[in-house]
Amino acid sequence: MKIHDLIVLKETALHEAKDAKNDAAVEAVRVKYVGRRGLLPEIMKGLKNMDPGERPKAGQIANALKTELQILIEDRQREFSLSEAKTEDNSFDYTLPGEWRSIGSLHPISKLIEQMVDIFHSLGFIVADGPDIETPFYNFDALNTPAEHPSRDLHDTFYLEDGHLLRTHTSPVQIRYMENRPPPVRIVVPGRCFRRDTTDATHSANFHQVEGLYVDREVSMADLKGDLNYFAQQLMGPKVKIRFRPHFFPFTEPSVEVDFSCHVCAGKGCRVCKNSRWIEIAGAGMVDPEVFKAVGYDPDKVTGYAFGLGIERIAMILYGIDDIRQLYENDVRFLEQF
Ligand code: PHE
Repeated sequence: MKIHDLIVLKETALHEAKDAKNDAAVEAVRVKYVGRRGLLPEIMKGLKNMDPGERPKAGQIANALKTELQILIEDRQREFSLSEAKTEDNSFDYTLPGEWRSIGSLHPISKLIEQMVDIFHSLGFIVADGPDIETPFYNFDALNTPAEHPSRDLHDTFYLEDGHLLRTHTSPVQIRYMENRPPPVRIVVPGRCFRRDTTDATHSANFHQVEGLYVDREVSMADLKGDLNYFAQQLMGPKVKIRFRPHFFPFTEPSVEVDFSCHVCAGKGCRVCKNSRWIEIAGAGMVDPEVFKAVGYDPDKVTGYAFGLGIERIAMILYGIDDIRQLYENDVRFLEQF
């Protein structure tokens, strides 16, 4: 190769790079001249065979070509990528409707707990809590539930290997709260409970309760009924009715089960209330003197009522849900309705 040929090659290469009409054409020029198998590396290799007098000049031209061409190619590439971005920008239509992004919301159980707690706040209750993992003492003994009581049976309770258990109700928090504080007490305890129940449309091994405890001088069953009636009407509206049925709990005496009139069918009979028009919502009663003794309160000086409201049950009648399992499946189509 002669010096003259090199000069022509340089002109041609720069010309081709300037003339390239798009990104792909620039890339073709790059591959042709400065690519690994391109003309320039070839020429560099051939320099040693040239006339020694022409070699330095030829080397200079070849190096200049390489630098100039690379700079030009980069400039042209930048030019094309900018103009592409511009085309994209111009094609954006600001009048198109925006993309819908769904916003998360509280789970219906959490929402209901908030609502319930608000109502009890208005009656002067404050919120207390306790652990999900309990000792048999707090879950049973201190609540006057002797070792041979059926609810201590393995079928009802999840026991842990170290002798602890998953609390079967929120009532142990009654004990934890009272043992550390003198009366009067007015607390609600929303929380998670566990029982070895077979799951079906109305039962779940994991469910929630709101425990209530009111201890003072001369608290009576009438207070219990009045407060629960107020609670029911605040939550469900003025038409809801409540009724007490005699029952037994080891830690209350007398004890009752509390039913709400069915909100779903308004007393006509439906699947949710199994046509009975009433739904069992809570266990309740007057705190047993044995419980007061266990926490060091004097049963001759104070009386109290306690209740345990089943949150899932209330959710089912309030929202018209006929299968408790829907509350735990976390199907977004279901959850979005609340
Ligand atoms: N702890 C009882 C239960 O889980 C409910 C209850 C609470 C009953 C408080 C009486 C007083 O069934």
